[in-house]
Amino acid sequence: MSVAEHGTEQITIRKCIGIDELNACVALQKEVWNFSDLDLIPLRMFVVSQKIGGQTIGAFYGDDLIGFTFSIPGSRAGHTYLHSHMLAVRDSFRNHGLGRKLKLAQREDAIQQGFELLEWTFDPLEIKNAHLNLSRLGAIARRYSVNHYGHSSSPLQGGLPTDRLVAEWWLKSKRVVNLLDRKQPPQFKVEKKIDVPAQIYAWKASPEERPKAAEVQKRNREQFLSAFSKGLSALGYERDEQDNGAFLLGRWDEDRSYASKDDE
Ligand SMILES: CC(C)(COP(=O)(O)OP(=O)(O)OC[C@H]1O[C@@H](n2cnc3c(N)ncnc32)[C@H](O)[C@@H]1OP(=O)(O)O)[C@@H](O)C(=O)NCCC(=O)NCCS
Repeated sequence: MSVAEHGTEQITIRKCIGIDELNACVALQKEVWNFSDLDLIPLRMFVVSQKIGGQTIGAFYGDDLIGFTFSIPGSRAGHTYLHSHMLAVRDSFRNHGLGRKLKLAQREDAIQQGFELLEWTFDPLEIKNAHLNLSRLGAIARRYSVNHYGHSSSPLQGGLPTDRLVAEWWLKSKRVVNLLDRKQPPQFKVEKKIDVPAQIYAWKASPEERPKAAEVQKRNREQFLSAFSKGLSALGYERDEQDNGAFLLGRWDEDRSYASKDDE
């Protein structure tokens, strides 16, 4: 079953209902990340999330779950927000806009619930995710977490430390409203670029070439930490014709933050 065979018209995006649909999310999580059982978010956590104001939103082809997004409520410095812990689309349905649609459904639901901020972490070596988060959704990143989860059993991590950028999606900011509702991409002065070579996926996947991926991770980690300490934020992302990526950093001109002492 794939989009190529069936198209996307028959796909619906809606909240997951009941234990069977949540179980399908657990199964898809296992399929997409190939985690060991210890790293898997279990059914019980999906149930808890639904009871405490989190979100589990699915993409369905007929009755089959082919994508989902999962978030839990968080609180910082007296403000509540949503932390999106997972976004997954089945391999054969990727690159047809479903990841983006799931995030847009998350935004709509979050705004209805009264949230202004949705956050998530992402691997800064993942060119595709960085493009989706910064260029297509309008999230920004100005916090870097070194080896965020410790070791990960997912092959997607390629055995590297789990460094993560924190994406902040200020749902009603000028930046996001202009991009999503008015189709106006954000304008800003680029003060720094941080490059990610297209070969990063191949390097991560190959034990022999992994040191090259580790080198890029180390170099970029230093660059992010230094740039963020100077008040820069990752505000854009560009890809060239060879699929190399580059974070574009500048100064965000909107005064939005739920800063806490832990972030200093
Ligand atoms: C991340 C993920 C959810 C995206 O789902 P998706 O349905 O493929 O996403 P979309 O089709 O909405 O958007 C993908 C974008 O990346 C682009 N893209 C695809 N491959 C790319 C690559 N190698 N480099 C750069 N961009 C790429 C697509 O062209 C598209 O951009 P566009 O809308 O400007 O054309 C999916 O790839 C996935 O499940 N990955 C594994 C799990 C994961 O990494 N989850 C996110 C972190 S929690």
